[in-house]
Amino acid sequence: MQKKVFGIIGCPVAHSLSPLMHNAAAAELKIPAVYVSFEVQPADLKKAISGMRALGIAGINVTVPHKEKVVPLLDCLDEQAKLIGAVNTITGKDGELIGSNTDGAGFIRSLKTAGFNPAGKNVAVIGAGGSSRSIAASLLLEGVAGITVVNRTPARGRKLVKLFGELGEISLAAAGSGDARSAIEESDLVVQTTPVGMKRSDPLPVKSVRFHEGQYVYDIIYAPERTRLLQKADKEGAKTVNGLGMLVYQGSESFRIWTGKRFPEKKVFGLLENFLARGK
Ligand code: ATR
Repeated sequence: MQKKVFGIIGCPVAHSLSPLMHNAAAAELKIPAVYVSFEVQPADLKKAISGMRALGIAGINVTVPHKEKVVPLLDCLDEQAKLIGAVNTITGKDGELIGSNTDGAGFIRSLKTAGFNPAGKNVAVIGAGGSSRSIAASLLLEGVAGITVVNRTPARGRKLVKLFGELGEISLAAAGSGDARSAIEESDLVVQTTPVGMKRSDPLPVKSVRFHEGQYVYDIIYAPERTRLLQKADKEGAKTVNGLGMLVYQGSESFRIWTGKRFPEKKVFGLLENFLARGK
């Protein structure tokens, strides 16, 4: 039987663990499929999507920096992707490309699994890119008391706040400001969504803040397993969570959309944990 082709587009994408987890899942369930990574430069995104159509690729995950830019290149979007204005999962069906977004669902599942129920809580979200959008929208839909977005570029932060203003209480604080510092220190949950921390030499994504006991600090980065931010938060008594759960749960939901099958989550967690431990 001919194998279906799935993959991920991003830039950079070499570090992605999606091929490892989706290929393992397909093998486990004996699905004839292969999942590959494609490094696509921003200037080539349009050509890559045309290529996906021409080659009949069954499904593609989308990562940095294409999640927002890919939206106008698709035929239709599901509810979540429409709301967020960003796509992390494309499905090829009957000649059409459908965009979905499973990041928010993956994030919320992993947050709840870690013991944090967001309803009624105050949250600070660092970053205002594609991942931040999914996370902010899904937190507002979960009924948080309020979100403060902390971003380096105020214009991008303002855009996000404006986009979701009708979903609930959401405001902006400029990175490095006193407002940002108090929003972070007074929140029940801090979510770090920028790439700052992926390299061990990276600085902290927020300066001169102190975390405290009773607070949750969630970094969507999973490699390194414990970013400098999580190490600091841990030292200061906060509960820390990395992005591995979000990665697996968003992948699980993409897999369900593509195949209609249940992702072997436990097996995939074990595989990724082993892989990450070997890379230390
Ligand atoms: P993703 O889709 O993964 O969210 P993205 O859309 O490129 O990626 O967004 C990255 C986010 O990280 C943005 O909020 C970006 O801030 P700007 O809006 O100021 O660009 C933030 N970010 C990236 N590199 C950063 C850095 N070195 N310092 C602070 N913020 C950074």
